[in-house]
Amino acid sequence: MQFFIDSADVGEIKKALALGLCDGVTTNPSLVAKTGRAFDEVLREIVALAPGPISAEVTAIDAEGMVREARAYAKYGDQVVIKIPLIVEGLRAVKVLSDEGVKTNVTLCFSAVQALLAAKAGATYVSPFVGRLDDISQDGMALIADILQIYRNYDFDTKVLVASVRHPVHVLEAARLGADVATIPFAVIEQLAKHPLTDSGLKKFLADWEKVPKK
Ligand code: E4P
Repeated sequence: MQFFIDSADVGEIKKALALGLCDGVTTNPSLVAKTGRAFDEVLREIVALAPGPISAEVTAIDAEGMVREARAYAKYGDQVVIKIPLIVEGLRAVKVLSDEGVKTNVTLCFSAVQALLAAKAGATYVSPFVGRLDDISQDGMALIADILQIYRNYDFDTKVLVASVRHPVHVLEAARLGADVATIPFAVIEQLAKHPLTDSGLKKFLADWEKVPKK
């Protein structure tokens, strides 16, 4: 499973790259707003840093406007993937862009039939938001299982990118189900490495090492 970092913070992206845990980057308007920086400047920096796919989200809500923004973002680098919301106009835009060979990530997916439409439109990735479904007492990971099954039934090439990841169990379940990618906030990437028995075990080893006679 590939690990993308869900962040527009260049500092976090650098840290994830240094850990070897950044196969790609996803951004969204809320993540960009958190940086307090202009998106073109942030996107240029991320493209220079990260060789993997980098999702840049359009903000137009009509297909023509989305395609216009997509063509502009695609010029920033070959690894730029255009993030398009899963609305009817978005599907129209994905169809145009996939026919042009522009890679797309269809975002804000909350149902398996929405994901089926994204694949039929030719999306490169679909992003089901597991955490936001869990927030409203629906089963986010059950949606991932359904989408994976449907895509396998029909051999769709669209990759399942698990989004809105909130904790390590989402990552574990995504890997168990065989999702293609999980996009993970940096704080969760750090959490993945942690275990209290690792910490207490290390503490004991270091304490015992002090008792070993040194020459
Ligand atoms: C996906 O690409 C989105 O950027 C993201 O995963 C949304 O997560 P949130 O629900 O934590 O905002």
